[in-house]
Amino acid sequence: MKGLILSGGKGTRLRPLTFTRAKQLIPIANKANLFYVVEDLAKAGVKDIGIVISPETGEEIKQAVGDGSRWGVHCTFIVQEQPLGLAHAVKTALPFLGDDEFVMYLGDNLLSGGISHLVEEYKRGGIDSTVLLVPVDNPSQFGVAVLNEQGQVVRLVEKPKDPPSNLALVGVYIFNHHIHEMIADLRPSWRGEYEITDAIQALITHNFRVTAHQVRGWWKDTGKPEDLLEANRLILSQITRSIQGHIEKSDVVGEVVVEKDAYIANSCIRGPVHIAGKVVIENSYIGPYTSIGTGTKIVHSEVEYSILLNESEVYNLPYRLDSSVVGQGVVVDGRGGGPRKHTLQLVLGDRSRVQL
Ligand code: G1P
Repeated sequence: MKGLILSGGKGTRLRPLTFTRAKQLIPIANKANLFYVVEDLAKAGVKDIGIVISPETGEEIKQAVGDGSRWGVHCTFIVQEQPLGLAHAVKTALPFLGDDEFVMYLGDNLLSGGISHLVEEYKRGGIDSTVLLVPVDNPSQFGVAVLNEQGQVVRLVEKPKDPPSNLALVGVYIFNHHIHEMIADLRPSWRGEYEITDAIQALITHNFRVTAHQVRGWWKDTGKPEDLLEANRLILSQITRSIQGHIEKSDVVGEVVVEKDAYIANSCIRGPVHIAGKVVIENSYIGPYTSIGTGTKIVHSEVEYSILLNESEVYNLPYRLDSSVVGQGVVVDGRGGGPRKHTLQLVLGDRSRVQL
């Protein structure tokens, strides 16, 4: 069985972060979303992986992933010239996929339970396609499934204005070659895309066997800043304490990872928190569910429930930075401390400058 990771798209809902980077490379607990996806496939024994990339961000993704040998897999990159939808991406990948069965995994999706059980069940045979479902509060933002009393999928509809159920389609699917026949006959949807949801609906209409499973554990589509923060929280909930950096006169409590060459002085860190290598934290408070990327410096400041990317600087903030996503090489300069009665919420693209 092959793997197909979709890693194109413009990431418009994550601007300004996605002006300068592919959304799939934004780190969650200091690891790119895309890397969790490759790991899930590798763990399920899927070793031959195609990655669909866009002309805009493809090079960056190629550089970050390499040939896949780091995970014991082989990665092939496939350029989708235009963002014409998930089904169009599958069509573009046809020379790579051939007639093989494949797992398709969207590069901005995260699953806590992995996919091994789905791959194993599929390999036992008797199924043409597997889809994964999860109940959500906002179904009109997803593909939505309707099940019958036996739990079989009877209808699928992409981003319905009036959702027929609250069961969203997760961005993980297993297909065999029949999906290509359905895609060949597709028409673009109202949003001008060739929808994989419509292709799976066509499988159902043609009486192919489509099996649905509910997600084990949690699932997140990291399409918006609040989703990134939530995904960061979920991943950080699973970390265990490991301190390798240098800590001086500080209170480091709970599940905290401090990587090699990080330096923390006169500060309080309350886990779960992930601190990458070469980070410097002085006279500061870092609260739960915060990830701080390599080389970032935080001085005389308070940060909680936030993601800070690499090589940023946060100084003397008069407010507590909360629920924020701070890009790479950003400077947030508070020019003076004081009681932090208020919080500050920022989503800053790479190389931003903020003075307070
Ligand atoms: C895509 C699919 C949708 C699915 C979602 C999961 O949406 O079209 O059916 O529910 O991924 O992440 P998109 O992320 O393209 O809006």
